[in-house]
Amino acid sequence: MKTAILRMLRNANDEYISGQKLSELLNVSRTTVCNEINTLREYGYKIDAVSRRGYMLKSTPDIVTDFAVGSLIKSKTFGKTIVYKDEISSTNILAKELAEKGYEHGTVVIADTQSSGRGRRGRNFESPKGVGIFMTLILKPDFSPYCAPMLTLLAALAVSDAIEEIVDVPANIKWPNDIVIGDKKICGILTEMSIQADYINNIVVGIGINVNNESFPDEIKDVAGSIFTQTDRKINRDVIIERVLFYFEKYYNAFLETNDLSNVQDVYNKKLINLDKEVKVLDPKEPYEGISRGITNTGELIVEINNKIRHVASGEVSVR
Ligand code: BTN
Repeated sequence: MKTAILRMLRNANDEYISGQKLSELLNVSRTTVCNEINTLREYGYKIDAVSRRGYMLKSTPDIVTDFAVGSLIKSKTFGKTIVYKDEISSTNILAKELAEKGYEHGTVVIADTQSSGRGRRGRNFESPKGVGIFMTLILKPDFSPYCAPMLTLLAALAVSDAIEEIVDVPANIKWPNDIVIGDKKICGILTEMSIQADYINNIVVGIGINVNNESFPDEIKDVAGSIFTQTDRKINRDVIIERVLFYFEKYYNAFLETNDLSNVQDVYNKKLINLDKEVKVLDPKEPYEGISRGITNTGELIVEINNKIRHVASGEVSVR
């Protein structure tokens, strides 16, 4: 109910919408409408009420609940079901449990904070309360498990587009999936897959975005930043989440046409911070250096070393 009322208030575009109209459209009593409006106010929504005119939304708090995000959703599949928790160990862990329990393809799990946010290579992901986005998408695709790593690149594209649209600054991609504003990483993505033989049970794509953080712990402050530290702007996180889901759906549909990245390769390469730059590939066997020439249509990084081409499938790359 809160989702529907909030959606109508948001869509009223600075006009009053009457309690009568809300109650008719939602098929509930005026008292129910009034109670729901009061609950929204308790969450921090400023809603003006004027007799004989109705309600008008004046301002929105920075919260990422199911109704805050749900009332903005424009995508068809991703975000149709939203599971929200104030605090959780990791949205990836809950998403995996929910996927096993039968939650549908496109479900998104969102938390306001994570007590053990997980990064790639077993690292920890700083997940402070009230300033970041911690979200995980559940996918149940019928393509080959070999396609799974490409989803991470699609998610990177979606985050980059969302930020660029909202904040209007370049949000570049450091291959394969870190988002960088200026010289600081502001987003990380962790994709995990559950397979049986060569069949995908489910894939979870976890996205962590530093949005309104004002500072970072000493251990990461040289590399990590937030949208706020990099642009001096505070943004409501629900708006970013909605855009990420919208663009993820767009890129996912483009991907499904070919089951590879052919349709998005050029866009990705334009955003690639490493393009035509010297990179150091931190291969666990033996690190090597070369010039990055973009990605292949399966998402590998093309690295030119002494006029020879190598395709890097995984591993870390640092811009020199
Ligand atoms: C990385 O850069 O190492 C990847 C970080 C991924 C963090 C996100 S936050 C939401 C989801 N839940 C997790 O525990 N991790 C991912």
